[in-house]
Amino acid sequence: MTRWTDAAGPAGEALIARASARYRAADPFAVHFARFKLRNDPVFAIALAQGLIPDGARILDIGCGQGLLASWLLAARQCHPDSWPQGWPAPPVPRSYLGIELTPADAERARAALAEPGPWPAEIRQADARAAVAEVAAACDLVVLLDVLHYIDRPAQEALLRDALRCLAPGGRLLMRVGDASAGWRARYSRAVDRVVQWLRAGRTSPLTCRPADEWRALLRGMGMTLREVPLPRDAHGANVLMVGTLDAVDAVAGVAGVAGVAGVDAVDAVGAVGAADALDASDAPKGQAVRAMQAAQAEPGAASREAAARSSATTSAAASTTASTGEMEPL
Ligand SMILES: C[S@@+](CC[C@H](N)C(=O)[O-])C[C@H]1O[C@@H](n2cnc3c(N)ncnc32)[C@H](O)[C@@H]1O
Repeated sequence: MTRWTDAAGPAGEALIARASARYRAADPFAVHFARFKLRNDPVFAIALAQGLIPDGARILDIGCGQGLLASWLLAARQCHPDSWPQGWPAPPVPRSYLGIELTPADAERARAALAEPGPWPAEIRQADARAAVAEVAAACDLVVLLDVLHYIDRPAQEALLRDALRCLAPGGRLLMRVGDASAGWRARYSRAVDRVVQWLRAGRTSPLTCRPADEWRALLRGMGMTLREVPLPRDAHGANVLMVGTLDAVDAVAGVAGVAGVAGVDAVDAVGAVGAADALDASDAPKGQAVRAMQAAQAEPGAASREAAARSSATTSAAASTTASTGEMEPL
């Protein structure tokens, strides 16, 4: 099968080069890893080639690793239109990007890559998504979960998905890649590769909780998602499934109308703005802030975003904010 880089030609190479160059500010491992991953894992190219990331999206990237998606989108913005793969649509211009990452070293790499102010606000939170996603007070339009859910146990997978979907504004989208535990030897091979990569990146491995693809489908449909699947080249990630979900039954996820309601009236402009507000006001429970923002929004359209803007005006975290972690987390 043709690799995506063969089809995209020099424009594809330019994208890889631009995105991985951002990690020079981190460490050589991060640069090499970015180059290797972006070239060999087609999911980032597919996301652009197939327009899977909506223009103007507030992106919540859960388990963002070293922030490859964020770097990729910034590189796309730099490359387009002069050096752009033929047939790909114009790259999206997100409204904001929030990455949540458990492993401190990866969160640091992501922050280094995003340190230079970019065209949209970007923030990396070093935190355990199992707690941190429930505390995200701003609505988003795209939840990204690429190769993350199998690191947490089954109840946590379900709780995290529910929390993530609660953040989605009406019409919001989920981009999720999971392994298919029913894929036989390919699934076993994928898990073995996963353990090697975990060990290389974090110095240890952790148990993996995988499900058959049908179970993932049923779980997401049960949460009110309409799903479609994007075929992945078999040679690259044969045991993986890339799902695009849209939230059509808002009430299906308990409480989803909460944060989505904030978005509906006058969305908190940037996820980063609320992150900054949280960082400034560490004594407040973030969930309490979300509830207050929601109440304010319901009482007076626009109040939520004004409250967030007012509270964040004391900070200059326009881009790549380095919000404190929610506590000492054990890395993978
Ligand atoms: C295989 S990597 C994928 C990284 C990124 N999504 C990408 O596609 O480049 C999985 C990432 O999920 C992170 N992760 C695992 N459990 C997590 C948790 N409970 N909270 C936040 N991040 C987590 C890991 O530290 C790791 O960086």
